[in-house]
Amino acid sequence: EERHRLHLLQAMDLAGRLYHHLLTETDHGKEAREYLRERGILPETMAQFQIGYAPDSYHFLHPFMKRRGFSEEVLAEVGLISERERRGKPSYFDRFRGRIMFPIQDSQGRVIAFGARILGDGRPKYLNSPETTLFHKSHFLYNLHRARKGIRTKEQAVLFEGYMDVIAAWQAGLTTGVATLGTALTDSQARVIRRNTEEVVICYDSDSAGFSATVRGMDVLKQAECIVKVAQLPDGMDPDDYIRVRGADAFQSEVIAQAVPFTAFKLESLKKEFNLRDTDDRMSYLNQAVNIVAELPHAIERDHYLRRLSEEFRVSLDALKQEQRVVASKKR
Ligand code: CTP
Ligand code: MN
Ligand code: MN
Ligand code: MN
Ligand code: MN
Repeated sequence: EERHRLHLLQAMDLAGRLYHHLLTETDHGKEAREYLRERGILPETMAQFQIGYAPDSYHFLHPFMKRRGFSEEVLAEVGLISERERRGKPSYFDRFRGRIMFPIQDSQGRVIAFGARILGDGRPKYLNSPETTLFHKSHFLYNLHRARKGIRTKEQAVLFEGYMDVIAAWQAGLTTGVATLGTALTDSQARVIRRNTEEVVICYDSDSAGFSATVRGMDVLKQAECIVKVAQLPDGMDPDDYIRVRGADAFQSEVIAQAVPFTAFKLESLKKEFNLRDTDDRMSYLNQAVNIVAELPHAIERDHYLRRLSEEFRVSLDALKQEQRVVASKKR
């Protein structure tokens, strides 16, 4: 069993090294190198993240790995090749073709899966390894093995959506980034983060998908007893775009350092649903805002936000406190 697992890991390791070699040292990788260069990825970053390239062929990796002693069963088990029927016989072909390869590594840095991006436009944009005995997406955080040290030192983790955000941020000097790879944050991932640090900055894409994911992610992290902050980017941008356009320093000082606390973010985003010039709307907003504040576990925090609301909307602090007590008693 353990020997079999090691054999699977050896297959992934060799594939990772082959893809990286193809990207960095061969003609096959020329277009991909150019693509990454245009996206601002430096050669040393390609080496650090062992970024690779899978040639646009159905039979490149498969024969190579076979010659190196890996059976079709093993290659299919780790998701490097797929099977199809051909004249009643099984036939195999490479899963990843014509794509930039991002190795996904476990806590010890061993390759357990790949994320693969198409060059330019086309669908799907990213193709990931399937769930295998090595890779369980819902428990996994991309880049954790590299970022763990930084996270523990800074006592903060930054949570991104994808590979390019983590990599661009790393190049910009932020060594605390991890990513959920496009799916909703799970309890299990939140607990993994919490084992390394209490404070988490969510830095998702500034689009509607990113916003919903932020709202859900905040609650999952809160449940895991994290202190949650939210970094805000200009509309339509993701962290990688921002770093390319505005630079590393602006990213650190204006996005990460300016991340707003969980409750402030919730109150701000709730506001957008109301027309605050309308009295009824303003009252509904205040009611719901008090609901959010009532959820907070600490009295000092509740007091802080009620005071802010009281000043902003010119309603008495007493009235807000009364309202909050009503909400709290209904909850019990
Ligand atoms: N993702 C995926 N499959 C897709 C699209 C996205 O697995 N078809 C995951 C990837 O991990 C991706 C993340 O979701 O990194 C975020 O998606 P998106 O914002 O669309 O991609 P970017 O990371 O911004 O990729 P790029 O900058 O290369 O366009
Ligand atoms: Mn599992
Ligand atoms: Mn996105
Ligand atoms: Mn994105
Ligand atoms: Mn992007």
